[in-house]
Amino acid sequence: MLLVFGSLNVDLVFEVEHLPAPGETVLTAGYTRLAGGKGANQAAAAAKAGAAVRMAGAVGNDGLASIATAGLEEAGVDLGLVRRREVPTGLAVIGVERSGENSIIVAAGANATVRSADVADADLVAARTLLLQNEVPFDQSLDLALRAKRQGVRVVWNMAPAKRLDAAALGAIDVLVVNAGELRMVAGADGEPLALGRGLSGGHGLDVVVTLGGEGALVVTPESAGRLPALPVQVVDTTGAGDAFTGCLAASLDEGGSLDVAARRAAVAGALSCTALGAQAAQPRASRIDEGLALLPPMQPLTVS
Ligand code: RIB
Repeated sequence: MLLVFGSLNVDLVFEVEHLPAPGETVLTAGYTRLAGGKGANQAAAAAKAGAAVRMAGAVGNDGLASIATAGLEEAGVDLGLVRRREVPTGLAVIGVERSGENSIIVAAGANATVRSADVADADLVAARTLLLQNEVPFDQSLDLALRAKRQGVRVVWNMAPAKRLDAAALGAIDVLVVNAGELRMVAGADGEPLALGRGLSGGHGLDVVVTLGGEGALVVTPESAGRLPALPVQVVDTTGAGDAFTGCLAASLDEGGSLDVAARRAAVAGALSCTALGAQAAQPRASRIDEGLALLPPMQPLTVS
């Protein structure tokens, strides 16, 4: 079972010709209200990819709560550890421009009330894999990661939004998932993704998966490195592509897949998730991921230069 500890939001999605520059106002005809939040997006993606998923998090005591959980219910995620708190539900305002590029502002709301103690030890050890992101309080995620590590539960952490990590935090992670900008922030250094990934992986004994958008992904372990190409798709909206990637990666690992196999499935899920508006709408189910896998070229091994 995969336990996802993280955020649930409602996304207000505005389709615009171009994203506003600082000080600029742009007009559009309307907006769409969709389920979102990095935690919920990843939980939904993992369930659609075939994993048994339980979500731990919080929504508010307002009318947005049912929208935030709707996609999870539809995907078959267990919501037994999603609390209802006397604050507003988390809310994101998302602009999506014609190219599919987006910009996002998130108000944490109930996500700020999430605590490691919300997950009892019995619930933690019932999981094989714990999946984290950074839209709930970081100290609570770290506490839960350290508890998971002590219990032998695998920790997959999508460091988004990014945060500089010390050795203790890096030591709590089995698989780190980041994009290139997040990788620089985590490492606290500039440099090529491959070199930074190797430094973190070799230095702290963890696997590092770097998503590179249309350039594919890097998969770095202490012993090896490889580059996965991207699956070409017609991009409508890139919102949640990293979440679809991460959710599918964690699902495949939880089901016993190797890191290479999990990353291939994740690359397909991430690409396909960009083909419709919204973070959860185009997340593929296992059968579509399998079809896409047949079209994805193999991983290229990378040697040290
Ligand atoms: O990663 C995309 C997500 O980021 C959106 O669904 C939004 O809610 C923000 O959390």
